[in-house]
Amino acid sequence: MALEILATGHYVPARRVTNDDLAKTMDTTDEWIRSHTGIGSRHMAAEDEATSDLAYEAAIAALEQLAPGKALEAAQTIDIVVVGTSSPDYYGFPSVACIVQDRLGIKNAGAFDVIAACSGFVYSLEAAAGMLNQGRKRALVIGADVLTKITDWTDRGTCVLFGDAAGAAILEKTDAPSTGAGRRGIIRTILGSDGSGAKELMCERGGTRNPFKKGETIEKPITLYMNGRAVYNFAVKAFTDTIENLLEAEGITMADVKKIIPHQANMRIIQAAAKRLGFSEDKFFMNIEKYANTSNATIPVALDEYARSGDLERGDLIMTVGFGGGLTYAGNLIVW
Ligand code: COA
Repeated sequence: MALEILATGHYVPARRVTNDDLAKTMDTTDEWIRSHTGIGSRHMAAEDEATSDLAYEAAIAALEQLAPGKALEAAQTIDIVVVGTSSPDYYGFPSVACIVQDRLGIKNAGAFDVIAACSGFVYSLEAAAGMLNQGRKRALVIGADVLTKITDWTDRGTCVLFGDAAGAAILEKTDAPSTGAGRRGIIRTILGSDGSGAKELMCERGGTRNPFKKGETIEKPITLYMNGRAVYNFAVKAFTDTIENLLEAEGITMADVKKIIPHQANMRIIQAAAKRLGFSEDKFFMNIEKYANTSNATIPVALDEYARSGDLERGDLIMTVGFGGGLTYAGNLIVW
């Protein structure tokens, strides 16, 4: 029995905002953003667009690939909906997964969100995989975020980094082998965390630790705080360790891996990791220039773009690797 990704899809909001657009309203430049991050533009959700709207469109794109012209019919075959997100439509509940389940008209499926920040899509895949191994057949796994609505637009050190997007994958338990020759699907996953670094990347207000109080004057909406330098250092180590550990655990080398689909947080993190590991940056599929950091969505969006590029063939071995708030890190090896 293998856990195979049968189809993928993604969605980005229509509004594209370039670095030069940002430079009109804040003290920054296209040159600074590109040279420090590799980002050229990002897409931003409209006023009336929430995370579940992006997640729904990405799900439709994946279902459409699975069953052209019959996406909503194909949705009926889903047994479980899992959404990795850091920016749900509503505080606490309902989950984005339930909103998407309802809009797709899926009956008799479990639905829940996963909070693992930018590692969330890999965590969500693993959660879904565990459930498929317990008897369910097909899962809709989504990574979706609208971080631009929880970004502090007066903090130029963080706001230029983020964008909005969603990516989706249909994961199924199939009869293909998961070991030996001809194996397919997700063959190994690493999930990790270091909660001691929680304060380096967090939304401090609004939760039960620090709730808004009656009568309090709210000076700014809930926004994320990031200690860029600390996150950078964690990220480079988490990236390199996860890649090395996946290779070592599987007894393979980078030559066996066709492409790494990394979390797209900062081009310089990828460059530093590639240098430490001694292999070319070309091993990584990058689209950060177009979309910036879309948190839970970066890996599934990149996976979808890579899968549709024509370069990814059945039987190819690829790797995902990510890190994020929590702090968390995660990666997996997938035979396509
Ligand atoms: N435009 C222009 N100048 C900016 C700027 C911007 N958008 N943001 C910061 N600066 C300035 C700073 O004010 C500082 O100026 P100073 O030297 O006069 O004080 C200078 O640029 C350097 O700032 P610094 O914060 O040291 O830059 P950096 O090289 O560490 O890069 C990040 C900052 C955020 C790009 C980098 O730390 C990073 O990518 N960290 C990881 C973030 C991440 O991955 N987050 C997502 C986790 S999922």
